[in-house]
Amino acid sequence: MIVRITRSRFLRQLTLSILGLVCALTFAACGGESPTATVGNPAGGTGEAATTLRVGTEPAFPPFESQGTDGNLEGFSIDLMNAVAEEAGVQVEFQSLPFDGLVPALQAGTIDAAISSMTITAERAQAISFSRPYFKAGLAIAVQDDSSDVTSLDSLRNKKIAVQLGTTGAQEAQKIEGAQVRSFDSAPLALQELANGNVDAVINDAPVTLYAIKSGNIPGIKVAGTLLTEEYYGIALPKNSPNAEKINTALNTLLTNGKYNEIYQKWFGSEPPTLPEAAPI
Ligand code: ARG
Repeated sequence: MIVRITRSRFLRQLTLSILGLVCALTFAACGGESPTATVGNPAGGTGEAATTLRVGTEPAFPPFESQGTDGNLEGFSIDLMNAVAEEAGVQVEFQSLPFDGLVPALQAGTIDAAISSMTITAERAQAISFSRPYFKAGLAIAVQDDSSDVTSLDSLRNKKIAVQLGTTGAQEAQKIEGAQVRSFDSAPLALQELANGNVDAVINDAPVTLYAIKSGNIPGIKVAGTLLTEEYYGIALPKNSPNAEKINTALNTLLTNGKYNEIYQKWFGSEPPTLPEAAPI
């Protein structure tokens, strides 16, 4: 009996030490960080370039990023990001996140990049980095079809304005004296609030509002006045991203080899404007 216990203990201990040794030897394979890790560096900016980029996006912003009827992501940004990845020789794994969660996710290192029609702004550039500009956009005011008194930002004083949380449109709305600003998780929800007659206006990216009107998704609204701002979208990256150079080189190649034009034509049906190499911020 005693002998048996001793023996079985010995065997158990032997098994455990063998297991331990095997696990120590294969630590990298068991989940330790290996130099050829296939996911991006969780710490953000200081590690190796990723072979699979985890890319965040808020996919309720057609025609840039949205979810098709089959549930798959689609849009200008999705096509562009896939083309960038192909050019750079990396894989892409998209992750859907709320728009105002993208910068924190980049800072926390849970995503390697974000492509979400994010305007390159001086304020954001303090927290994260941006690629070169890949799209020229701007804000527009949307109002109900029968409205005629809203023509500019000034004419929105003391009015009710709907915006998407965390966007440049939201920032612009906050500056308007006496305005009651209602924030929504997505641009379509803000536009719907206008269509329902619950607010006087929406401040949102012009191409997205125009697309919502043209596609008939949000009936009974129109764009008032002209473009309010000139904004440039960039691929957002953590500070000191090891993937920045690859992404910029790929974007530059696509802009010169006709592929960017092709993707632009597919989604906007026109020739793209020329883009500056850096956003004027
Ligand atoms: N361009 C605006 C900004 O950067 C709005 C972007 C919203 N993007 C989105 N996928 N919902 O603030």
